[in-house]
Parts: sequence; structure tokens; C-alpha cells
Amino acid sequence: MSVYNLNINGKSRVVDVSPETPLLWVLRDEIGLVGTKFGCGIGSCGACTVHLDGQATRSCLLQVSQLEGAKITTIEGLSPDGDHPVQKAWEDNDVAQCGYCQSGQVMTAAALLKNNPNPTKSDIRNSMHINLCRCATYNRIEKAVSDASKK
Ligand code: FES
Ligand code: FES
Repeated sequence: MSVYNLNINGKSRVVDVSPETPLLWVLRDEIGLVGTKFGCGIGSCGACTVHLDGQATRSCLLQVSQLEGAKITTIEGLSPDGDHPVQKAWEDNDVAQCGYCQSGQVMTAAALLKNNPNPTKSDIRNSMHINLCRCATYNRIEKAVSDASKK
């Protein structure tokens, strides 16, 4: 076990875990931020997406020992009251079905719009296709990202 001081959602969080522990499990099991979901554990589904220094990143693939000094943002830290434009567009478009994939979807969409505030339909598809949704909410996701880009 080793002690790591992580910057998560703007706060310093100290954890004592094995160096190879994935960020996903640090967030969920050590800190209690369970909005970030476990889907595949091998970087293939996007359910575990968080922001690392503003970039959408798969937390199941990041070892805690790589992360000191990085700025980590989870769905809980995306906005103070759940009112980020992407979250509002998600509500307006009633995107979620079971909801399991949705925090990862929202985090990928928020990073896309931060880097590209006026994405084309093709930009949206290219960025969002890496996040899987078993409920196939893809059309509503595309519409919500487009709506959020106009706000
Ligand atoms: S749980 Fe990380 S990509 Fe699927
Ligand atoms: S809303 Fe059910 S997996 Fe995406």
C-alpha cells in the first residue's frame, strides 16, 4: 500500500492503496464517488469516463500511481448543481433509459464541447461512438449534444 494525494473535483483526497489500483476503484471504493460506473474494465465501453486535465479518459485503465498532480473531474464535480449545459440537454431530451452508461456519456460529451464548442454531426458521432449504450439511446445522445452546443 502507498499513500497518494489526488486532486479530485477541486479537492485534495488522500488515499492509501496499492500503486496499480485503477482510478475507477479509488473513486468508487475509497472515496465513495459512485457516479463513475464499471462496465468492462478493459477500456472498451466508456462507462467509467472521467476528465483527466480536461480530457475524457477511461478511469478503469489509469493506475493511481500515475495521477498525482493531475486534475481529475468526475460526474459529481462537473457542475455544482447538476446544471452543466450537457446535463440540462440530457434532461430536456430525456436521454437516459436504464442510466448505467450515462455518466460516462455526459463526461465524454462535456469534454467534446469544451474542446470543440460547435461540433458537426460527424464530430459528435466520432467522439461519442466510443461510449457504448446497451439501451441504444444513441439518437437522443446525438440530439442532446447538438442542443448543448447551442447554449
Ligand atoms: S469500464 Fe472502463 S471502459 Fe468500460
Ligand atoms: S441508458 Fe442503459 S446502457 Fe445506456
